[in-house]
Amino acid sequence: MGPISLATQNLYAESVNPQWVRLLDLLGMNVRYQRCEGCELYAEDGTRYLDFLSGYCVHNTGHNHPYIVEALKQELDRSGPAMLQSHVPELAGELAQRLCALAGGGLTRTFFCSSGSEGVEAAIKFSRAATRRDGLLFCEGAFHGLTCGALSLMDNPFWSEGFGPMLAGTKAIPFNDLTALEEQLKTRKYAAFFVEPVQSEAGIRVASPEYLREAQRLCQRYGTLLVLDEVQTGMCRTGRFLAAHHFGVNPDIVVLAKALSGGLVPVGAVLMKEEIYDAVYSKLQRAIVHTSTFSENGLAMRAGLATLDVLEEENLGERATRLGERLRASLTAALGQYEMFAGTPGLGLLSGIEFRAPSKLTLRLSLQAFGAIHPAMFGQVLVMRLFREQKILTQMCGNNFMVLKTAPPLVADETTLNTFVEAAERVVSEMHSSTAFWTEPLLVARRAVNIS
Ligand SMILES: Cc1ncc(COP(=O)(O)O)c(C=O)c1O
Repeated sequence: MGPISLATQNLYAESVNPQWVRLLDLLGMNVRYQRCEGCELYAEDGTRYLDFLSGYCVHNTGHNHPYIVEALKQELDRSGPAMLQSHVPELAGELAQRLCALAGGGLTRTFFCSSGSEGVEAAIKFSRAATRRDGLLFCEGAFHGLTCGALSLMDNPFWSEGFGPMLAGTKAIPFNDLTALEEQLKTRKYAAFFVEPVQSEAGIRVASPEYLREAQRLCQRYGTLLVLDEVQTGMCRTGRFLAAHHFGVNPDIVVLAKALSGGLVPVGAVLMKEEIYDAVYSKLQRAIVHTSTFSENGLAMRAGLATLDVLEEENLGERATRLGERLRASLTAALGQYEMFAGTPGLGLLSGIEFRAPSKLTLRLSLQAFGAIHPAMFGQVLVMRLFREQKILTQMCGNNFMVLKTAPPLVADETTLNTFVEAAERVVSEMHSSTAFWTEPLLVARRAVNIS
C-alpha cells in the first residue's frame, strides 16, 4: 500500500467529518503519518513527532509493538472461529482469567465489549440488576464516554447539549468529597458510584489516599456498588496494573478499555464480582441477555493477551512509576520559575502540566483575549506550538483547558522525556516573554471565527 493521497483525505472531509479536518488545518496539525513505532510518529515528509498523547492512553505498549502485531498476524493466519456467535470463544476465557488474576480483589468475572463507553453502559446495567436500584452517582468533572448512558454520568454540558434527555436518577458530587458522597449514599437509592481513580479529563486530578478506601467502606455500608472507571488509568498507565492498587481499594466493578489491545483492535472489559455477574445471567433463559456482536472476538482477545505479555515482560508498570516521578520532577525544575505554571499533577505516566491565570497585567489581558474567543483557545495554542515547532503531539484535558495532558507510551525512554521537558520549557518561556505567542493566534482565530 502506498502513502495516503490528498484525494483520500478529501474523501474523509466529504463523507466523514469536515469540521475535524478544518480544525486540524487551522491548528497546522493536519499531518499525514506514514509509520508509527513506539513513541515515534513519522510523517510523509520525514518529520519525526514524539507522541505524548498516546491516543488518550491507548498506546501504553507503544505504537505497533512488534510482538502484538505478530500475535495478530498469527491469529489471522490460523483461520480460526471468529464471531460465530454460537461457540465458546476460548481466548476470551484465557484473557478474562489473566485480567481477573491481575486485578485481584474478588473480581472473578468479565464482560467483554468494544469500547470504554460500552463498558460503562454495561456497568450501569449490571449494577442496576444486582442492586435493584436505579440511581447512579458520579463525580463532577468526570469523563465516562459519549453514549447516552455514559454521558448521563458527566456534568460538562458541552458533551450533552442537544442530545438529551439523559438517564434520569443520576447525580454529580464533588470529587474527593466524602461528606457529599455519604449524604447521597444515605438515601439508599443509588445502584452504583462511578469514579475514576485519577480524573484524567478533569485535569489529572488524583484521588486523595483515603478517598477511595473510605468511598468503598461507605458504598458497602449503604448497599451501593463501587465502579472504578479505569479506562485511562488501567493497564499499568499509573504504575500499577490498576490505579485501584495504589489505594488499596477493592471495587465491585472495574471498567477497562483503551490500552487493553495494544492500540490495534477496539476492546473493552468489565471485571466484576461473581454475584453481580450472576444477577444478570441468573438462569438459562438469560444466558445471552446482555451481549454485543463484536465482544470476545478473536483478534481483540489475542491482542489483549499479547498486550498483557508485553506489559509483564517489559515491566512497564514499574517503568511508568519510575519515569513518571522523574518526568514530574524535571518539569517542576524546568517550569517552576514561570508565573503561569501551577504544577504537575499525576500518577505513573499519567501527568499534567497545569497553568494558572497570571498576575502580570499584559499576560492576564492576553489570556482574557484568548478566553473571549474560545475557552479552549489558550490550550490549543500551546498544543499547536508544541506540535508545529517542537514536533511533540499532546492535547489539553477534555474538561479542563488549563491542564496539558502528558501521557507518553510507557515504553518511552529518558531521552524522549528529556526532549519533551526541554520543548515544554521553550514553549512556556515564549508564552511568558514573546508577544507573538499571543498576537499571531489571535489574528488567525478572529479570521476563523469570522468565516465559520
Ligand atoms: C475515563 C474514561 N472512561 C470512558 C471513556 C470512553 O471510552 P471510549 O472512547 O472507548 O468509549 C473514556 C474515553 O476517553 C475515558 O477517558
